[in-house]
Amino acid sequence: SAAAAEAPTKKVAVTGAAGAIGYAMLMRIASGQMFGPHVPVELQLLETEQGLKPLRGVAMEIKDGAFPLVRGIKQTADPNTGFGDADVAVLVGARPRGPGMERADLMSANAAIFAVQGKAINDAAKRDIRVLVVGNPANTNALVAAANAPDIDPAQFMAMTRLDQNRAMGQVAIKTGTPVRDVERVVIWGNHSSTQYPDLSNALVNGKPALDVINDTKWVREEFIPRVQKRGAEIIGARGASSATSAASAAIDHMHDLFVGSGDAWQSLAIRSDGSYGIDKDIWYSVPCRCPGDGVYERVLDIPPPDEYSAAMMDATRKELLEERDAVKHLLPAATGKQT
Ligand code: NAD
Ligand code: LMR
Repeated sequence: SAAAAEAPTKKVAVTGAAGAIGYAMLMRIASGQMFGPHVPVELQLLETEQGLKPLRGVAMEIKDGAFPLVRGIKQTADPNTGFGDADVAVLVGARPRGPGMERADLMSANAAIFAVQGKAINDAAKRDIRVLVVGNPANTNALVAAANAPDIDPAQFMAMTRLDQNRAMGQVAIKTGTPVRDVERVVIWGNHSSTQYPDLSNALVNGKPALDVINDTKWVREEFIPRVQKRGAEIIGARGASSATSAASAAIDHMHDLFVGSGDAWQSLAIRSDGSYGIDKDIWYSVPCRCPGDGVYERVLDIPPPDEYSAAMMDATRKELLEERDAVKHLLPAATGKQT
């Protein structure tokens, strides 16, 4: 029977599981789109006390999906239970912004959540857990979670900029009349915020330099970059709520590529800076990586140095992340010692 060939079950913790992103993501995890069609999953769904009732409904719907890969569905408001023995965690649970807010405005409301969850991950999860932070401000929340998990390598904590990458690739595809499949090496540098730098310097369209194919610097600088930077706000303006199904899709993409692998392709991941590219250590800064599979990522270092424009763009988002780190200093108890 199939059981003999079955891969080990992945225990996947998802926070904010009854929220909009959770609702759009769970069915896709359950169907095998995150870890591949042969990897069974046990879902460990974490919510607030008030969230447990709607979560019960979501869990009923997952059961009603009759997914062959689902081995169990845990529902809890206790972080240590939610992260217990987890192989993977997707940290979504946090307040979304409304119209007129910047993502950094969520700092005081949300960062404290990630201190609590970092501690619980440290206490209860598998030592080789991989953690993806989606809740905003995602980069700085990843820093807070990692700093509160002193026994787990901070490199295992990532923040999501895959949505930004997907948005940027989509815009290039439309502009050049090319399927997204033929757009490669688009990079998101820095923060998942309006200071991020969506960079086409190394990008290819049908194997040719994207900037040559587009041949329109004004469009790149005055339309493309601001549009990607402010796409979250554009969606909020249109939908009256922050992006959910595209965010869920990007989280699936990120984890799929991390675990299943995406070969030579470049994927932007907001990871703890190790000083590469001249970025200060210990901020979570999005950089291009290759993902060979099994939870591993490798920075793409074999690229030409940034030109003056790119260097200034990379610097602006770096500075914002340093400011964000200052704003959450009180939540970084374990930051000294471990990370340097
Ligand atoms: P939502 O309000 O629909 O859902 C959030 C859920 O989290 C709610 O069900 C809430 O009860 C739960 N929650 C709150 N605190 C929690 C805690 N301490 N533990 C467990 N659960 C908790 O919001 P959403 O639309 O799903 O968005 C969630 C977050 O993701 C927001 O911060 C949003 O800004 C962010 N986001 C990030 C990206 C990205 O690209 N990184 C994209 C879209 C949205
Ligand atoms: C997004 O990029 O859509 C999310 O981070 C939500 C937001 O507040 O923009």
